[in-house]
Amino acid sequence: LKKSILFQGLPEGDLRKISLSFEFIDLPMGEVLFYEKENSSDMYLVLEGKVRASLFDEHGNELVLAELGPGEFIGEMSMIDQLPRSATVIAEEPTRLASLSRETFLKIIRENPDIAINVIRALVTRLRRADDMIEALAFRNVESRIVKFLVETGREKGLTENGKYRLRKMTHRDLAARVGASREAVTKALKALVFKGIIEDRGNFWLISPDAEEKIDP
Ligand code: CMP
Repeated sequence: LKKSILFQGLPEGDLRKISLSFEFIDLPMGEVLFYEKENSSDMYLVLEGKVRASLFDEHGNELVLAELGPGEFIGEMSMIDQLPRSATVIAEEPTRLASLSRETFLKIIRENPDIAINVIRALVTRLRRADDMIEALAFRNVESRIVKFLVETGREKGLTENGKYRLRKMTHRDLAARVGASREAVTKALKALVFKGIIEDRGNFWLISPDAEEKIDP
């Protein structure tokens, strides 16, 4: 809890008191925490594992809005405005969450106003990421979005081979959900990227150079 964005800077005694109002939830991988448009208003803290917030179209195509891991919170939007859930939240790994009811959270904020600042800071970070995603969807083609995603993933995971990022292959469907494109468009774009030598196909892995973005048109 000490490491959580929400409770940063809070005295240990207060934290202990707050943690008494938590309920703990264990989600197996792939399990849905709640669905978009659902009416609920609890908020959750990710203690272990990872969840993703996604939108789905009528054909079941997925767009991943964000992944949230240990120390991050989820479900704050409906908690704050009491409107239906803005996205579906799914466990990407076995995940342990702490849930807080709207009433409890509002009470905690009133007693510890610094928590509200922590929430705002986290929302600003999310807005920056969302702007980045809007930029990619508006100004970049599918090839460029794939390269951006793979380079960012490589940077985060830091696995390299001869100065290139070495990334375990994902299914075209999963990649499509990350870059906001159809599965068909991703298959076509990947083929073109391999043909142009921007991505190297190594069986179960892709190799991509950290400066690959400079080598393609947006
Ligand atoms: P809520 O609308 O209650 O339920 C879905 C949750 O997904 C939402 O609260 C946020 O916690 C999270 N979420 C929705 N959109 C984004 C986004 N763009 N970035 C990060 N998290 C998001």
